[in-house]
Amino acid sequence: MTPEKEKSILEIRKRLLKWYRSHARQLPWRQTKDPYKIWVSEIMLQQTQVKTVIPFYKKFIKIFPNLKSLARAEENEILAQWSGLGYYRRAKLLHQGAKYVFENYQGIVPEEPEELKKIPGVGPYTAGAISSIAYNRPSPLVDGNVIRVFSRIFSHPGHAKSGELHKKIWREAQQVIDPKSPGDFNQALMELGATVCRKYLPSCQRCPLQDECTSYQNNTVEQFPETPPSTQIISLTRVVAICQHQQGILFVKRHKTRWFEGMWELPHDYCQSEESAQKTLELLIKNQLKSSMTQPVKISPSIHHITHHKINSLPWHGKINKIQPCKKTFQDFGFFSLNQLKQLAIPNFERKVLQKAKIL
Ligand code: ADE
Repeated sequence: MTPEKEKSILEIRKRLLKWYRSHARQLPWRQTKDPYKIWVSEIMLQQTQVKTVIPFYKKFIKIFPNLKSLARAEENEILAQWSGLGYYRRAKLLHQGAKYVFENYQGIVPEEPEELKKIPGVGPYTAGAISSIAYNRPSPLVDGNVIRVFSRIFSHPGHAKSGELHKKIWREAQQVIDPKSPGDFNQALMELGATVCRKYLPSCQRCPLQDECTSYQNNTVEQFPETPPSTQIISLTRVVAICQHQQGILFVKRHKTRWFEGMWELPHDYCQSEESAQKTLELLIKNQLKSSMTQPVKISPSIHHITHHKINSLPWHGKINKIQPCKKTFQDFGFFSLNQLKQLAIPNFERKVLQKAKIL
């Protein structure tokens, strides 16, 4: 390392920590060093904004206050608490991870990233977060915020998803981490990325690292990191049947699917276009549910994005009596009252549909 870079690293540590100590947001998971709670918060924060996570985190920790309670819970109960947060695979892996720690580490979350990474659902980022924040170990971590901050400070070429850039920044994060306060340092980097060094319209005038930031000096901040080549968006249209029965609304459980396995959703089918939607609905109800819907009312559509898919939901709400669902598509189904719905693991796009229909 050049003497200039060494000097710059010392400055970055000093300024960033000073800034963090006076500017950090008060967040519920920052009031604890409990590795289990840090783990839960870090999993929830993946792909999800802080303000969305806060109420879910608080309720989750109330219901599952420690590793033992989570390890012993049923997956259904955990999914129900996760319902609304999205990316449900995270919840399932967290559950598997808790059981793994219980069985392999006597219920004590390990301290070293190499051990942590053996736990289901714990990748290099989460391992670094638990190790540094809960145990104050000098373990680096790299997430989207850290990539943006480092790319800008050091004017690194490469787009945010490039493997080479990731490797470089992991090495850099190991060099730059403050050995005395690694947990605060890592959180400070992410906090800076989330609140100051934002992707769009960064607030460089408030940044404690202005003097160290080469792209700020060169007036090229918004050129880093480079934009990755865009993935094509796939549009899907689905008709959704909100079947009102005496005992509640009909839901179907998903089995063996890539997304949302084990969650409950409304009966639906995909169609080519909006023009063929009503016909698709009729066939769904007649052929797959062996039922009929009286006076179906069209509900306004809702749009939901999942990875690179854009899903347009076209719902109808109406009464049904008897059903005899096709066993292949509907292995598991049930009618749920409004109160039961609140406890049910339902994906967000179905919540949107139910909100449009003024049911939730
Ligand atoms: N994003 C994810 N985890 C975080 C943390 N602990 N602090 C700031 N931002 C985060």
